[in-house]
Amino acid sequence: MQSSYFIKLEEKYGAHNYHPLPVVIAKASGCEMWDVEGKKYYDFLSGYSAVNQGHCHPKIIDALIEQAGELTLTSRAFYNDKLGSFEKYITELLGFDKMLPMNTGAEAVETAIKLARRWAYVKKGIEENKAKIIVCSENFHGRTSTIVSFSTDPSSYNQFGPYMPGFEVIPYNDVKALEEKLKDNNVAAFLFEPIQGEAGIIMPDQGYLTKVSSLCSSYNVLMMADEIQTGLCRTGRMMACDHEHVKPDLLLLGKALSGGTMPISAVLANDEVMLTIKPGEHGSTFGGNPLASVVAMASLKVLVEENMADNAEKMGTLFREKLGRLPSPFIREIRGKGLMNAIEINHPNPQAAWKLCETFMQKGLLAKPTHGDKIRLTPPLVINEAQINEAVDIIRQSLPILETL
Ligand SMILES: Cc1ncc(COP(=O)(O)O)c(C=O)c1O
Repeated sequence: MQSSYFIKLEEKYGAHNYHPLPVVIAKASGCEMWDVEGKKYYDFLSGYSAVNQGHCHPKIIDALIEQAGELTLTSRAFYNDKLGSFEKYITELLGFDKMLPMNTGAEAVETAIKLARRWAYVKKGIEENKAKIIVCSENFHGRTSTIVSFSTDPSSYNQFGPYMPGFEVIPYNDVKALEEKLKDNNVAAFLFEPIQGEAGIIMPDQGYLTKVSSLCSSYNVLMMADEIQTGLCRTGRMMACDHEHVKPDLLLLGKALSGGTMPISAVLANDEVMLTIKPGEHGSTFGGNPLASVVAMASLKVLVEENMADNAEKMGTLFREKLGRLPSPFIREIRGKGLMNAIEINHPNPQAAWKLCETFMQKGLLAKPTHGDKIRLTPPLVINEAQINEAVDIIRQSLPILETL
């Protein structure tokens, strides 16, 4: 079967909630993917940073297969013999008292919102139903009806109302605006991304995380870092917050927690927050299942044992250096941390970034624009120097398309 067959099949029978590049992938390994015709590509999206460990990492796949033959799901109606070890491992690794496992990233965000509200009522003493959570403009935290209620992107929230109250939006990277809001005693938490991913790799000023942390603790407000995209070695540290040696009160993880094999997410927090939710008050049929527990533990061990943060840091620096030398009047900026990078295109044609990505695809590299003019470049963290060089060559050879638009 040809690519066109699979594309037409999805067009006819699938909902139209995504706008994919016209490529049909059938196989992948490390940072390479192959389409149904057998053409090879470099993956510069990594499943939106879920495949940090590289596609089909053998240690993760082995763990998955072995556990799948033993026990996949008990529901939390019973204990299983894998969840506890995973909880011990991840809390010791990341330095929190407890972990609450869920499935998708959006569910981790929902869980964090519920924890923050509960903490606000039982610990901070906020009057019931008055708790507020401060969020940033251009945020992306997922697609549930609560989360899109505080999105500032019309394509996320339009005609999905009525919206959930209790959220207030401030500009990203604006410490003054944050402090103004925190003076309100009804504020329970500040939810933010250490680098805004979907917005186009928007990086706050150096020192922002430190100031957020100290403001949150002086106003007794929970700092909730959504590291679902930035975490797990993507930016060259285990967590993006580690760049400033900052520890949030709630840490939200997803995506690469399974190395891209299945949906696994988690919220980490200390007892003061986590124990405010009592047995029977929150859950998910699949959250904390034994298959996910084994896969997540293997995925974390691969990141640590194979020093993926170091490789992300080194390869990211090399990548930005090389991209910075590309001569093009149509590149506004190249920015990023570790292997979370973007090229921002400056072109009168609003389709320019999309056309450039189509050209990358023809030449063997897959990446997608976000918010029109920004192209996110986030390969798996196993990429090596020769592969970075080849990817930069593809990007160099593709840029002339911009002169024809
Ligand atoms: C920062 C951030 N939070 C939450 C999510 C939502 O994760 P999921 O798509 O697994 O629900 C995403 C997804 O891109 C994200 O980038």
